[in-house]
Amino acid sequence: MKKIIVAIDGYSSCGKSTIAKQLAQYAGYTYVDTGAMYRAIALYALETLPLYSPTPLLPLESLDFLEENIHLTYSPDLCLNGQPVESKIRSLEVGNMASKVSPIPAVRQFLVAQQQAMGQAKGIVMDGRDIGTVVFPEAELKLFLTARPEVRAQRRFDELVAKGEHPIFEEVLKDVNDRDYRDTHRDISPLRQAPDAIVIDNSDLTREQQMQTIYDIFDRHH
Ligand code: DC
Repeated sequence: MKKIIVAIDGYSSCGKSTIAKQLAQYAGYTYVDTGAMYRAIALYALETLPLYSPTPLLPLESLDFLEENIHLTYSPDLCLNGQPVESKIRSLEVGNMASKVSPIPAVRQFLVAQQQAMGQAKGIVMDGRDIGTVVFPEAELKLFLTARPEVRAQRRFDELVAKGEHPIFEEVLKDVNDRDYRDTHRDISPLRQAPDAIVIDNSDLTREQQMQTIYDIFDRHH
């Protein structure tokens, strides 16, 4: 059967990664979480770049610096310069730094080239913010995930409570709205729906309904 590229973009806290991972498993495809790549560079910035104080993020503006100093590999989990990083990159601190490093043009150029190389053999499900628009504008299947901000805030709120934190719902909702604004208004590769993307609003779908919808779409596309 012909292998395709599946590009999944969408707002934060829509369950993109879980959906992409499950679809990759269903299809027998490789899953690539591009957010993790931006987070790995953020981790590098936090751990190494204070050396370059008072302009710690300046080195990331050079493609040569990135190519010489940052090596991302999968074995199968994401490694930064040979060290597995999955357990370190999910913190709030790394997430906040990721939103500072991801608008840097050289960082995007560096990561987009690697993402495009990973898709050469097709058979890939990649999730992010610019996959259907910039990384693979020619992807055979593009999904754009969304859900109402209140629904996404409630999901995030429940996750934080499960972690033993004591969030305030209004603050979580404001954070979701602020992130949406930043994601859609940044100058470089803003979150946009590709004209040929299929939009899935999962506000009122159960996980099973959502996955069945996505499997049916996938089956019709390859
Ligand atoms: O999806 P996430 O929260 O792991 O993403 C981390 C950060 O990277 C977030 O600020 C959005 C950014 N990002 C991006 O700019 N482009 C992508 N393709 C994926 C993530």
